[in-house]
Amino acid sequence: MKRRDVMKAGALLAASAWAPVAVAAQSRDHSARIKALIDQMTLAEKLGQMTQIPGGRQKSLNSKLDAAMLDRVRKGEMGSFLHVAGAEPLRELQRVAVEESRLKIPLLFAMDVIHGYRTILPVPLALAASWDPAVAEAAARLAAEEAWAAGLHWTFTPMVDVARDPRWGRVVEGAGEDPYLGARMAEAQVKGFQGADLAKGQRLMACAKHFVGYGAAIGGRDYDSADVSDRTLNEVYLPPFHAAARAGAASFMTAFNDLGGVPMTANAALVRGTLRDNWGYQGLIVSDWNAIKELINHGVAETPAQAAALALRAGVDMDMASGTYSEHLGAAVAVDAGLLPLVDQAVGRILAAKARLGLFDDPFGFGDPAHEKAPLNRPVARDLARRSIVLLRNEGGLLPLKPGAKVGLIGALADDASSTLGSWRARGQIEDGVTLRAALGDTVEYQPGVKPRGSDGSGIPAAIDAAKRADVVLLAIGEDYDFTGEARSYAEIGLAGLQIALVEALKATGKPIVAILMGGRPLALEKALTGIPAVLQTWLLGVESGPAIAEILTGKASPGGRLPIGMPRVTGQSPIPYAHLPTGRPANPDLSVDSARYRDMDIGPLFAFGHGLGYSEVKYGELSLSAAEIPVTGTLTATISITNTGKVAVEEVVQLYANDPVASVSRPDRELRGFVRVTLKPGETRKVSFTLSAAQFGIWQPGKWVVEKGEIKLMAGASSTDIRSEAGFRITGTAAGDMPATSIATRVRVA
Ligand code: BGC
Repeated sequence: MKRRDVMKAGALLAASAWAPVAVAAQSRDHSARIKALIDQMTLAEKLGQMTQIPGGRQKSLNSKLDAAMLDRVRKGEMGSFLHVAGAEPLRELQRVAVEESRLKIPLLFAMDVIHGYRTILPVPLALAASWDPAVAEAAARLAAEEAWAAGLHWTFTPMVDVARDPRWGRVVEGAGEDPYLGARMAEAQVKGFQGADLAKGQRLMACAKHFVGYGAAIGGRDYDSADVSDRTLNEVYLPPFHAAARAGAASFMTAFNDLGGVPMTANAALVRGTLRDNWGYQGLIVSDWNAIKELINHGVAETPAQAAALALRAGVDMDMASGTYSEHLGAAVAVDAGLLPLVDQAVGRILAAKARLGLFDDPFGFGDPAHEKAPLNRPVARDLARRSIVLLRNEGGLLPLKPGAKVGLIGALADDASSTLGSWRARGQIEDGVTLRAALGDTVEYQPGVKPRGSDGSGIPAAIDAAKRADVVLLAIGEDYDFTGEARSYAEIGLAGLQIALVEALKATGKPIVAILMGGRPLALEKALTGIPAVLQTWLLGVESGPAIAEILTGKASPGGRLPIGMPRVTGQSPIPYAHLPTGRPANPDLSVDSARYRDMDIGPLFAFGHGLGYSEVKYGELSLSAAEIPVTGTLTATISITNTGKVAVEEVVQLYANDPVASVSRPDRELRGFVRVTLKPGETRKVSFTLSAAQFGIWQPGKWVVEKGEIKLMAGASSTDIRSEAGFRITGTAAGDMPATSIATRVRVA
């Protein structure tokens, strides 16, 4: 839909009216200054602004900032550095740019500050497991405060790629499989990183990445092609980006992958078309690392000059790391002067980002050497870690541990400080990571058993002995930090190394086992977990991993996380999203009926999307709706009461799903449309109300959103497969909507 149409449709569906991103207004104040600068710039200086180069490597920041590099800054050959940090070195670098270069344009300093800077926090998938946007926002805020103190302006996060295939290693960096949950986490992170005003300090520019479809890589292989339908692209993969743009994300990054044969770094239809023209996005667009040059590998450009021209035409303003704009865009412009206005546009956006950060007014406004040395914020780290833990199984109330029980702690992951930090550790230090072993100390007998990789099983006998001496076994299994992240896709996502041998040996002792699953992806563990009464998913939780897990194990805190992505039974089931279409022959437990299922496997995942338990039972009342029908411009409130029937406080995540049973196209049998995490004291009852607009049931039809007349079913419950109450209503008319249904947030009230 073109922008014009969006405006028209906006009048129809007021609840979802498009709010232009804040960046537009802010850069307008600086537009005269920016125009004057562009008028004075040589082509080389413009290409310099469009260039971002590494000032170091991920693990050796600033290592390339030598005299030759400073000379390049003096000549105006670059607009931005990544992989740099430190208040003092960056102040000096900035000084060279603003005092010694001809046009005195400040530099932009960027780094992947993904889940903490010094205080490393839970990985993004874990934060999403909190099902609490406030948790994601708090994590972003703390990361921004610390990174700002180190002189940084810009982080390459949030990764808002929907990821439905846990073989994909970057599943750890996102919010999981669902666009609605993903959109809420995207907004929260943008808010946390950027605050209300980037120029006010203690904040960073966020970057919604990787636009778009990166999470749909075929077979879950990182960097591989994605090929999704137009409907799935619009209904599943684009909405979290839309939500990030609406929340004011100052930058976007294009993805490495191609989508149906068109590499995203050259995808004019989606970048310049959908993002810029249709959504009105005005922020800065950066390529991913070396991706402009890699257009040659994709086979869509023969020369670097062609690659540069393609990326520019697509709308990529800044070249990360490949040097293709600085070295070859000049040649492309020489043969096609029509590119020049696009160069000016790109430079304008880059300068607008610098203006939005306040760098023209105070190029040294970022960085604070005193604050940079501040101690870690462990209380926040522990709180966020605790909230990210998911209790998946608890047969016979094995957890919390009974006081006085003799505990055996087994598994090398329980003592792996490095893995507490996850895959993007910024300036986190391994010695800051408190492991589960350290947290439990002498209260348990520890045996490493086996590591999550390798073939050394020599520790198994001692682990068996420790288990035999214990009343209960805590067994840490899963993946270390290096199993997930970029280029960390795996064809088999069961237990690696000799872990399964350890698990089976411990089961044979007959002692009750609590499996503590660590790692950055949902693993396929049906067989491994058979016969294990309690299972806790603890991801990679940051510097306070151990204490947070210990608080849940001992019952000092209540587990309240929920799965942001379902856990398959076996690898071959992936991907297995909960929001699937009904099909003509829906999966049937009866194998004599031909149906959409695997014959060698039960239907559905082992643990479903949204699943998670607490230490008390929660009873749900009846879902009641404010109306039996609403107009297409209308809203509806769905209310349900929940009661903690147990003896301890509980954190319940009330989830609302919707289904459109008969529509012009087949619709998923349930889709998340609202959620809220609520604390309930023992015996307490609370009432949760969700207010939705008809636009939230819009369907993507070629080129536009359409809300169709007809019935909608709402389902409230404790997970995607634990629906406690349902109710239906009708939408009485049909109309075009103006934004992705899942980009619109449901208003939630808890009374
Ligand atoms: C990743 C990005 C990251 C960039 C800079 C790339 O390889 O795909 O997510 O922000 O490197 O480190």
